[in-house]
Amino acid sequence: MSERFITDTLNRADTDFDISLRPGRFTDFVGQAKVRERLELFVEAARGRKDVLDHVLLVGPPGLGKTTLAYIVGEAMGVDVRSTSGPVIDKPADLAGLLTNMEKGDVLFIDEIHRLPRTVEEYLYSAMEDFVIDIVIDQGPNARSVRLNLPKFTLIGATTRSGLLTAPLRSRFGLTNRLDYYGMEDLKSIVHRSARILDIEVDDEGAGEIARRSRGTPRITNNLLRWVRDYAQVRADNRITRDVADKALGMLDIDEHGLDEMDKRILETVLVKFSGGPVGINSIAVSVGEEPGTIEEVYEPYLIQEGYLKRTPQGRVATERCYSRFGLKPGKDQQTLFES
Ligand SMILES: Nc1ncnc2c1ncn2[C@@H]1O[C@H](COP(=O)(O)OP(=O)(O)OP(=O)(O)O)[C@@H](O)[C@H]1O
Ligand SMILES: [Mg+2]
Repeated sequence: MSERFITDTLNRADTDFDISLRPGRFTDFVGQAKVRERLELFVEAARGRKDVLDHVLLVGPPGLGKTTLAYIVGEAMGVDVRSTSGPVIDKPADLAGLLTNMEKGDVLFIDEIHRLPRTVEEYLYSAMEDFVIDIVIDQGPNARSVRLNLPKFTLIGATTRSGLLTAPLRSRFGLTNRLDYYGMEDLKSIVHRSARILDIEVDDEGAGEIARRSRGTPRITNNLLRWVRDYAQVRADNRITRDVADKALGMLDIDEHGLDEMDKRILETVLVKFSGGPVGINSIAVSVGEEPGTIEEVYEPYLIQEGYLKRTPQGRVATERCYSRFGLKPGKDQQTLFES
């Protein structure tokens, strides 16, 4: 199995598994205290007024809990959640179909909202603001516009790439929340919570080992836990300790610090090709074959948070931690990295 494949697998959502571990209420949702508090208040206020919740935008890298929060909000409001995603709604009529089938107060969750076609997005403006949608029926000389009144609904949009959202769309959300990578303690709680649900025995150090290699991402935490459970079942008496977790994760070539394949390529580019920087985001992007925006919004935040990269006015710079991660010293050695 190539490393790239392993990373992709770990980041992938496994529907049944995801759903069984997905927290259903605010009180089960670990971490992200500020986001949680804001959403809880928002919900309580709307409920107090017996009003429909205003539109919410959730922004953040994959696997941090955007979809989970959308369902939690729906549950807290006591309404149904309909889920779809940007690229699936490819014409205005699809959107009209979805919206006219909702009940007052229901949540429409649009994942990857930055991938909504522009023509559909324009229809969404009036739907979000005035709860009407004007659709054109028939063609040629018979073409006419019909106004449909919609039930008052809540749109919850999720995106990994807020930079791709147009200003008019962004401004129509009443509340925008950005999710951050989870810290060790939160990830450990998630290991313990998931282990309880799956009836797995894991001690605190074993949980810590899984948390440390999760790249700050609950979805990866859960996927690693599942792998370690399988290992423990076959080789370790069903008990997950640090040693068991370490051996199991070692078999997957999971990086000790939770870096994935793209993280490593980005860091190597800065260190080796650009001698530690400063280097602009576009040059990094060309070198690793990924879009600059994706690097900026999906990969780089973790590398900066963990202290591998620094953003300076001149560009990205490798930190000491970055050098030592690859066993290098600033100013020397860079050329040897790819040879070793
Ligand atoms: N705060 C949390 N506490 C416990 N488990 C969580 C938390 N956040 C996420 N998870 C777990 O991680 C899984 C992935 O979360 P979710 O699907 O909500 O991520 P996402 O942000 O929507 O990702 P994507 O951008 O890939 O759609 C969930 O099924 C859930 O089990
Ligand atoms: Mg999601």
